[in-house]
Amino acid sequence: MPDANFAADKAPDVTAPDLSLIICTLNEGAAIRSVITEIAGHLNGIHFEIVVVDDDSKDNTAAEVTDLGKADPRVRLFVRKGERGLSSAAIKGWDIARGRVLGIMDGDGQHDPVAIRALADMILKGDKDLVCASRYIGKTDTGLSFIRDLGSKAATLATGLVLKAPLTDPMSGCFMMTRDWYETARPNLTGVGFKILVDLVASTKVRPRFGEVKASLRQRQGGESKLDIRVVLDLGALLVEKATNGIISARFVLFGLVGVSGAFVYALVLALSHSLLRVDGGLPLYRYQVRYDDIINYGLAIWLSMTWNFYINNVLTFRDKRLKGWPMLTGLLGFYFACSIGALLSLGVAILLKDYFGIHWFAAGVSAALLSGVWNYWGAKAFAWNQ
Ligand code: GDD
Ligand code: MN
Repeated sequence: MPDANFAADKAPDVTAPDLSLIICTLNEGAAIRSVITEIAGHLNGIHFEIVVVDDDSKDNTAAEVTDLGKADPRVRLFVRKGERGLSSAAIKGWDIARGRVLGIMDGDGQHDPVAIRALADMILKGDKDLVCASRYIGKTDTGLSFIRDLGSKAATLATGLVLKAPLTDPMSGCFMMTRDWYETARPNLTGVGFKILVDLVASTKVRPRFGEVKASLRQRQGGESKLDIRVVLDLGALLVEKATNGIISARFVLFGLVGVSGAFVYALVLALSHSLLRVDGGLPLYRYQVRYDDIINYGLAIWLSMTWNFYINNVLTFRDKRLKGWPMLTGLLGFYFACSIGALLSLGVAILLKDYFGIHWFAAGVSAALLSGVWNYWGAKAFAWNQ
């Protein structure tokens, strides 16, 4: 089978289209054919290409796009293996696209082709750098449930505080920009999560000349939404990274959140096992005797909370590099190793801060724990999710 992927540099410049529209897909086999056919019809008269970036869908998405591409060479497919994420897929698409205008839309039919055509016309005129479909100009049908609509508005508000840009709908997943403007943001993109428009606008100091088109969200054409609680956490983490100028990375924020959840697991396990377990006797240590049940209680709490942290980090913080099967086991061992060093480091630093620098015992403990958190993050990357 010929390689479905293509390299941008292999394509001769003379055929470079005006518009490259990226469609990121994950199991959109039910919709993708009609979505592409419909939008291609609406872009009549425009020199465009459609680049589908598929994250190795388990359904027939890739087969459908390959098939369409045979009949229409403007339709191209790039399959990513072992990677996940809407934002990073979009960046991949734009990086290999050839148009002077770069755009994005969903592969499930939710974005209205009439609005997309309007976006294309607006930006191809040449006096705008970024044009977005917005659900919040006047009253539109957002197609969202009450709860999601509320969530979307809250996210829009929080994002507005960080962005300071005149976007009425920064959560929009349907927009177009000039390649020139994209390149000013490209070096600083985070690529975490779903909200690539937020990432872009927060990653460049160059203010885009900006336009909007009012657009309602339509219903999905089959398949399932990939939005879950992780997408919300991702956005929060992305905003922290952008608000701190990248000093605190989005991934570190997620890692820290998992760490906090691990502390709760620790407390819960400790409380349970403390109330349930009674073992008499202990190990003699210097002048003391260390009770067996203390060793078991604390040991269990440490072990279970570390294991919890590993699993949650695997499906949240590092889900784009998620470990499965054998590598998951070696990753788990690597994580135990990193965290054990972190614990020793924390112990040493706490005592040093308290006894040598005379810092209050509580402040010493908290500072040491924070430091070991930074180490654990580094260690997790080095020993578990190798990158
Ligand atoms: N390649 C790739 N990798 N594509 C993905 C991934 C991924 O990990 N996750 C989701 N997608 C694709 C989906 O296949 C779909 O084409 C598009 O991204 C949007 O995903 P949905 O699951 O349909 O998201 P949604 O309907 O909840 O979100 C929509 O509304 C948001 C605003 O509320 C999208 O338009 C978002 O882009 C938009 O931000
Ligand atoms: Mn959707």
